[in-house]
Amino acid sequence: MRETATAQPNIALIKYWGKRDTELNLPAVGSISITLSDLFTSMTVEFEDNLEQDELHLNNEQNDKLLPRLSHAIDIAAGGDRPRARISSECNFPIAAGLASSASSFAAVVVAASAAMGIERSVGELANLAGRASGSAARSLYGGFVELENSGDAVVVSELLPADAWPLDVVVAVTETGPKPVGSTEAMEISRRTSPFYERWVGDQADDLASARNAIAARDFAALASVAEHNCLKMHSVMWSSRPPIVYWNDATLACLQTIRQLQSDGVDVFFTIDAGPQVKAVCDTADTDTVETALRATDGVRDILRSGLGEGARLR
Ligand code: PMV
Repeated sequence: MRETATAQPNIALIKYWGKRDTELNLPAVGSISITLSDLFTSMTVEFEDNLEQDELHLNNEQNDKLLPRLSHAIDIAAGGDRPRARISSECNFPIAAGLASSASSFAAVVVAASAAMGIERSVGELANLAGRASGSAARSLYGGFVELENSGDAVVVSELLPADAWPLDVVVAVTETGPKPVGSTEAMEISRRTSPFYERWVGDQADDLASARNAIAARDFAALASVAEHNCLKMHSVMWSSRPPIVYWNDATLACLQTIRQLQSDGVDVFFTIDAGPQVKAVCDTADTDTVETALRATDGVRDILRSGLGEGARLR
């Protein structure tokens, strides 16, 4: 009744923002992401009859803040009448700061909890369960380039291209290390209810998904860069036009975009994407990673740099 699973975060190139069913946590739009290799979360779940309540140790310290959502994810995977669980997690990057820690955490916990209960599930089933805990977590069950499609009461997640078929790197410019001011679930609901751009965002997503799918199939960097930056800025426009406005950016976020624009005009194959946080993720050709890292490190307000290639989906250790 004890299993460990490892998962890496994924970074959406075509973003998910908004839910069409808050009960089942179903996204309003499809999305396309890349799974990273070098940032990881490992989760050990041990079910124990004598335990009075679930316990969480994160990087060897007791953590009651993240426990409720992880307990809920274990209920989703193992049923509400399960024995209590001792959860221990290790994560090698900052949590809840827009670095997709929820994706890797929930993907790993669902895989570990299912196995610890002795339940055999397909990757597609595990992806759906992880997605009920956090929409983006469904994508971390798969490696490389991943598409999540909306389909009735479920999501269908699939690998578009394995990680080694098109080696790209991601350089993350960390501009703030604290937790984000508004969680994505609450922020998405504010956008759905109040942004005048929300319906247009949902309506146009199929076109962006098709462009990105084609660019990935053709390994066309310029085409992928163009649609990914456009889609990211559209998502943030929906956030900014919400009431109250949802602005995750800071000065350094914008400075990083300028650095990336300059790199692009110098002929470097790089593009940016930004999630529900102030960090900037620069996706680049592996030949350009050092150049991109050096430029972002020298950008005002950048506190740290993380680098990663593309990696595999969640799995038992
Ligand atoms: O899975 P959640 O609830 O953390 O939402 C993630 C939303 C974005 O990261 C902003 C976009 C995405 O598709 O990952």
